[in-house]
Amino acid sequence: MSTSTRLQGRTALVTGASRGLGRAIAEALADAGAAVALVARDAERLATVAEGIRARGGRAEVFIANVSDEASVKGLAREVQSRFGDRLDILVNNAGINLRKPLVDFSLTEWRSVLDTNLTSVFLMCREFVPRMTGRGYGRILNLTSMLSHVSLPGRTAYSSSKTALLGLNRALALELAPEGITVVGISPGVCDTEINAPLMQNPELREQFRSRIPVGRFGQPSEIAALAVHLCLEESGFITGTDIVIDGGWTAQ
Ligand SMILES: NC(=O)c1ccc[n+]([C@@H]2O[C@H](COP(=O)([O-])OP(=O)(O)OC[C@H]3O[C@@H](n4cnc5c(N)ncnc54)[C@H](OP(=O)(O)O)[C@@H]3O)[C@@H](O)[C@H]2O)c1
Repeated sequence: MSTSTRLQGRTALVTGASRGLGRAIAEALADAGAAVALVARDAERLATVAEGIRARGGRAEVFIANVSDEASVKGLAREVQSRFGDRLDILVNNAGINLRKPLVDFSLTEWRSVLDTNLTSVFLMCREFVPRMTGRGYGRILNLTSMLSHVSLPGRTAYSSSKTALLGLNRALALELAPEGITVVGISPGVCDTEINAPLMQNPELREQFRSRIPVGRFGQPSEIAALAVHLCLEESGFITGTDIVIDGGWTAQ
């Protein structure tokens, strides 16, 4: 059985739900009672996530889409409408990638792939799904930003640019949607041990270098990011909008 009913009756869509933070967020929303549309490109992994949610008594449907591609996002919107329903309460734009190297080594294609996946995807998703969220006085849009929206590191020009630009999108969209009761909030995680960080995590020296820079002395857990996401979806979080919540073990306080 789902462990809570705090989001009973709500529908949610999570991009990048096949693994990492998106998976944890989707599972937590489902455990809180929401029906969840799971979106990513890896059908097999998504199916595993959906099976897990259903085994706990939750509702989950799998949708394959490339969120950086306009036609794919339009197709996703049609598919969600026919298999999941035409109303959406919660949209979590979580899918993201990172390419780490000096600016001078980026090809334009690589630069665009980071911007398209991390930033333009949020525009494409919101353009399709916001019209399905209006008119009911409640809605939640959570966009995964990053501690690198606030500080940066060498080799992160594309990633930091995309995630910092998202702060602006969040503010402007929050103002547009405030009269609808739809909040728009950024969640800025610090370093978590997920696949996006494989280049750091698989290098023992680099892993320790990063761990030792985190004041709490450990990496973030996907479940901690997911708990924040659930909290932001509650009715009583309706006054939190147009802002960004950093959850980074103290990294940006230094
Ligand atoms: N982990 C961290 O330390 C950290 C810190 C700050 C911010 N974040 C942000 O949090 C979000 C999730 O990160 P994560 O750690 O969970 O990364 P991850 O483990 O690499 O997962 C990324 C997810 O995004 C999906 N994805 C990537 N490109 C996609 C595309 N074009 N279309 C559809 N889905 C796509 C992937 O699924 P498929 O490959 O199956 O499509 C996967 O489910 C990202 O936006 C990331 O920037 C993470």
